[in-house]
Amino acid sequence: MALVVLAAAAGAPGVTATSVGVALLWPRDVLLVDGDRDPSQAVLAGFLQGADGRGRGLVELARAHREGRPLEQEVLHHTLELAGDQHRRRLFLPGFTHPGTARLFSRVWADLARSLQNLDTAGFDVVVDAGRIGAEGLPPELVSAADAVVVLTRSTLRSLAATRLYLPELAETTALSRGQLGLVLVGEGRPYGAREIAQQFRLPVWSVVEDDPAAAAVFSDGAAHPRRFGQSGYVRSLRQTAETLSGIVSRSRDLVTGAPR
Ligand SMILES: Nc1ncnc2c1ncn2[C@@H]1O[C@H](COP(=O)(O)OP(=O)(O)OP(=O)(O)O)[C@@H](O)[C@H]1O
Ligand SMILES: [Mg+2]
Repeated sequence: MALVVLAAAAGAPGVTATSVGVALLWPRDVLLVDGDRDPSQAVLAGFLQGADGRGRGLVELARAHREGRPLEQEVLHHTLELAGDQHRRRLFLPGFTHPGTARLFSRVWADLARSLQNLDTAGFDVVVDAGRIGAEGLPPELVSAADAVVVLTRSTLRSLAATRLYLPELAETTALSRGQLGLVLVGEGRPYGAREIAQQFRLPVWSVVEDDPAAAAVFSDGAAHPRRFGQSGYVRSLRQTAETLSGIVSRSRDLVTGAPR
């Protein structure tokens, strides 16, 4: 029942790179979902270097939904391995395959969101790259099911101005759910800092991701590791982000289930 949704207003601040990085550094078993409604195959062609999606992903899940098959039993059959890891399962659910297929999904989101929540019973947390918020906002069924909705923004005036346009509606949708809304800042201090941004938006800045184009290209494009990648400030900031977000969602899960903290 730990479902984290990442999205942004505009300007490609790094939602996909951050989602991939967070999933690779997540402290529990995890499923990364490409839920971008403007499909670009960003993970298959990027981090996974043109891997064959083998017909798996959201389009096939929409078919299963039409045929009345319970998505809860289907979801894991439609995944690929995101990365080999001796200690954790890190899976990937590919996204939409054609512009416009996301529109056909409007009746599927509720069922999918519930199934993703319930992956908790199989030991998985779920990280969704929801892409841009867009004119219609994020799918409300996905937002209502989320334990945390993360809006990524850069600290530039341009990025913050766009974020301001899209936040109010998202904040309203999130307020109707039990989830929480927060910001992740990519590249702090260019020029604005986390504290002033949090004050301006009246939202917590949950984490700050370092601005490092060469390191980020590893997760966004499957580029070769730059020197000392594992020890870089970028990877450290993503590990911190993964840990912070997983703490937030597990606390929210405990509150819902009444489990002791
Ligand atoms: N923390 C970062 N520091 C520097 N560059 C970054 C960072 N994160 C992502 N990038 C770079 O920015 C570009 C866009 O990244 P990415 O595809 O992750 O953004 P996005 O928000 O998912 O974009 P889109 O809206 O197209 O889906 C890529 O070249 C990526 O390597
Ligand atoms: Mg993206």
